[in-house]
Amino acid sequence: MANANRIEIVRPDDWHLHLRDGAMLEAVLPYTAAIYGRAIVMPNLAPPVRATAEAKAYESRIRAALPDGHPFQPLMTIYLTDTTDAADLRAGFESGAVTAVKLYPAGATTNSESGVTDTTKVAAVLDVMAEIGMPLLVHGEVTDPEVDVFDREAVFIDTVLDPMRRRHPRLRVVLEHATTARAVDYVMAEGEGIAASITPHHLIINRNALFAGGLRPHMYCLPIAKREKHRLALRRAACSGDARFFLGTDSAPHPARLKETDCGCAGIFNAPNAIEYTARVFEEEGALERLEAFCSLNGPGFYRLPPNEDRIVLERGDAPEAMPESISIPGGDAVRVFRADPVPLWRIAAGRRPAGRTA
Ligand code: DOR
Ligand code: ZN
Repeated sequence: MANANRIEIVRPDDWHLHLRDGAMLEAVLPYTAAIYGRAIVMPNLAPPVRATAEAKAYESRIRAALPDGHPFQPLMTIYLTDTTDAADLRAGFESGAVTAVKLYPAGATTNSESGVTDTTKVAAVLDVMAEIGMPLLVHGEVTDPEVDVFDREAVFIDTVLDPMRRRHPRLRVVLEHATTARAVDYVMAEGEGIAASITPHHLIINRNALFAGGLRPHMYCLPIAKREKHRLALRRAACSGDARFFLGTDSAPHPARLKETDCGCAGIFNAPNAIEYTARVFEEEGALERLEAFCSLNGPGFYRLPPNEDRIVLERGDAPEAMPESISIPGGDAVRVFRADPVPLWRIAAGRRPAGRTA
């Protein structure tokens, strides 16, 4: 339900989230738990989460960082390597401990060194996943340094993703954080069995934002933001209502000192304002009626889970609590919060924020 000043939607989920561990986990988790029912938690810790037992241990640490009885549900993933044990995946998925598997091409991004070097090496694992319906979440970029960084997603689709899907036609795949018109076209041209998550920041910034008035490390993430025509294609896909596109914030906190440096980390921390910015995008596109599909319904549909049972309310207004400049991490670090002008026009009026614990 949407009118000019109020939107009520089923509680959203975040289908792609980096929560990290330790002090960082404690500091960033409240922002997600304040809004989302569930989140797909990325396994790229150092060392990565490579087996069911490790996923369970990580889930326990996440739950320990929540207030007692908090309803937020982390959905755990396992990091695929050339030596992943298919029987362990099957057991993890069938017991409900693990929701999905993440494919990082080796070397593609943060902590991806132990990723997959060639998808033909994990064929037996992919066969099992196809059989049991366990989703494969794909970081869709080739790692070949010869390939232009702005082309790595499109080249990946043609040279890795599509051939892999032809070899494993029943495999259910999410192309994570889609950033190009090529990704949108590919998903739209295929049947069921493939979907794409889209981040708020890729709906808002194009690659110029990385260089606006100087080098902007806090606009740097992977896949990197692309040309304006790609941003517009992502907006059309997200706002279309097509069930194969859903919100995955890819909120990826790094200490500011590790981004504002000679070789800065990739990642944008948007957990505090992802919903508010997404609402702004949908309003700009005249698609507020479809905000709920993108944030709260399409993801559960693909993951074969029920939508959340409760609702949140957004109301028109400034959202200062969603726009801190940075948050402090115990130990002295700070993480910059995503900010792009114009700022959101919507704030959470009911459905947890600002009741959740925030730093
Ligand atoms: O920008 C990114 N940051 N992209 C990724 O794929 C990983 C993430 C991170 O973990 O920092
Ligand atoms: Zn990510």
